[in-house]
Amino acid sequence: MKTKIIFIIGVSGVGKSTIGELLANDLKIPFFDGDDYHPKENIKKMSNGEALNDMDRYGWLKKINELAINQLNTESSCVIVCSALKIAYRNILNEGIKQNSEWVFLQGSFDQIKERLDNRKGHFMSSDLLKSQFDILEEPANAITINVKTSPKNIVEIIKNKLTEKTEFGLFGLGVMGKSLSRNLANNGFKLSLFNRHVNEIEENVALNFKNQFTELSSALPFDNIASFVNSIELPRKIMLMVNAGKTIDLVIEDLLPHLSEGDILIDGGNSNYKKTKERVDYLKSKGINFIGTGVSGGEEGALKGPSIMPGGTKETYKKVQPFLEKIAAIDKNNLPCCTYIGPEGSGHFVKMVHNGIEYAEMQLLADVFVLLKRLGNNPNQIADILESWQNTSNSYLLEITIDILRKKEENDWLIHKIMDKAGNKGTGNWTTIATSELGVPSTMITSSLFARYTSFFKDERITASNNFRESETHSLKFTEADVSKAYQFARIINHYQGFKLIKEASDTYEWSLNLSELARIWTNGCIIRSELMTTLVSVFKNTDNLLQDNSFIRELNSLKPFVKKVVSDSVLNELAIPTLSESIIFFNVFTKSESSANIIQAQRDYFGAHTYQRKNDTSGKFYHTNWKN
Ligand code: 6PG
Repeated sequence: MKTKIIFIIGVSGVGKSTIGELLANDLKIPFFDGDDYHPKENIKKMSNGEALNDMDRYGWLKKINELAINQLNTESSCVIVCSALKIAYRNILNEGIKQNSEWVFLQGSFDQIKERLDNRKGHFMSSDLLKSQFDILEEPANAITINVKTSPKNIVEIIKNKLTEKTEFGLFGLGVMGKSLSRNLANNGFKLSLFNRHVNEIEENVALNFKNQFTELSSALPFDNIASFVNSIELPRKIMLMVNAGKTIDLVIEDLLPHLSEGDILIDGGNSNYKKTKERVDYLKSKGINFIGTGVSGGEEGALKGPSIMPGGTKETYKKVQPFLEKIAAIDKNNLPCCTYIGPEGSGHFVKMVHNGIEYAEMQLLADVFVLLKRLGNNPNQIADILESWQNTSNSYLLEITIDILRKKEENDWLIHKIMDKAGNKGTGNWTTIATSELGVPSTMITSSLFARYTSFFKDERITASNNFRESETHSLKFTEADVSKAYQFARIINHYQGFKLIKEASDTYEWSLNLSELARIWTNGCIIRSELMTTLVSVFKNTDNLLQDNSFIRELNSLKPFVKKVVSDSVLNELAIPTLSESIIFFNVFTKSESSANIIQAQRDYFGAHTYQRKNDTSGKFYHTNWKN
């Protein structure tokens, strides 16, 4: 047991000294009776039947607090009994020792205690003062609370059990991801407290039932009561919130706050908006609580077997949660955890958001590839075979799952043919698109894949449009499977270039000092966008922040360019819908021109709005205005 000061509190006559002495004997640690630390004047007042006021108590409580601090300094646990009926009194006792104090509240009814006091002889406090004690009593929320109906021996046993029952880590919210992470933590030997709310007839005994379902959770403590859940975790508490992103996080924080202690750490493991995360970091800091906003990628299976984890917050706070997060993370090819300190504020959630943006584009590229290979006359099984052969050049988790998906049959047809072609989303692609606009970075492939999802949603209108604008005569296809493979490789490089460029821009703008190579490294396993390409990026980003300036990528893009041009131009002629693959070469054509058409835009802006423009032959950066009508 780490060094602890065990305060046993409650009204006079509740049996504090008896229990305290028994407990101290049992634990073989010193026992101190707070009453022995009263100054003489207080004792006199009390034996005259006068109640103590707060001034009388202040010096007394300070003395007991000093005693506790001395005990801690000599690394000696102890039991201290003291009435400490008000929060303010307990705060004085707890000054500077919060991380090492345990509170036991002995509870009894007025009649029960009165009877005890009336039977007690030689005590300096009369039972008449009991009422005033009950009047001022503020029951503690975070103490081990025990009703004194039972025998002192039992009470001591209960206290001992509760004291040793503290867990190392709390998991709040047992949805799919929360459950998988809990099992992962438990499998790694961590003692957990598990919480899920109680909703009559809808969510009942969720934590308890979950615990009973899996042997690895045998030592986990299940709760549906927030105070008990929080109490069961050792200080400083580490509580991971696995609840829906958005308003729910704020509601949960408000529910937890009254029970938390200074220095506790909340970890938001959902897909939260990075700006909100910064607000939460600041808000909780003002309350003395630390906040880590972390991306967790890998879906249900990743969460269970090893996700990629992207924690943001202060480095100091990260250090305290590091042993937990790094232990449950996936490992890279060098056996290092796919979890690293990302940076301050909402940077963890920012990079997870961009991860999802890259994910959207990678998914859409495979959807585009499906369209092309289908048009080349392949059925889903054949497409799966082709994609399997691409694993030599373009392997990725998303490629692997797409192969499985394409092979899945239901009755006599492929399941993919039966799935409604309307894509959903939970918002991270939207936020990435907003961020890329706000930061002024052209992550156009992420945007195009998001808009492809949005476009898909207008199913009825698309049906009408397909009747109004019938496909014109098709040309014979000029591209082959091999061309599509090369075009796909080209587009993936541009997607990764754009995604990492967005991260770099955010890092510079917000002064986050993000390490792109480390980021690529923790994305080589566990997460949805893990791939061979990502593994290559780990070393590339050690030398440059810009993929388009890396010699090997320059060579590769130059050699792949003819194929993407062929595939995209032929697709346009054949009216094939490949929004994201096309965007890769459209962006590339724009970005690789030393002369852009933006001079026309600048002139137009100056014409109608006197927005001014700069001249190529004036390097001072001076702005000019022209009176265009003369
Ligand atoms: C992951 C995923 C995961 C989830 C996203 C995407 O990294 O494990 O990105 O976080 O799949 O929420 O969801 P939508 O496609 O619904 O936006």
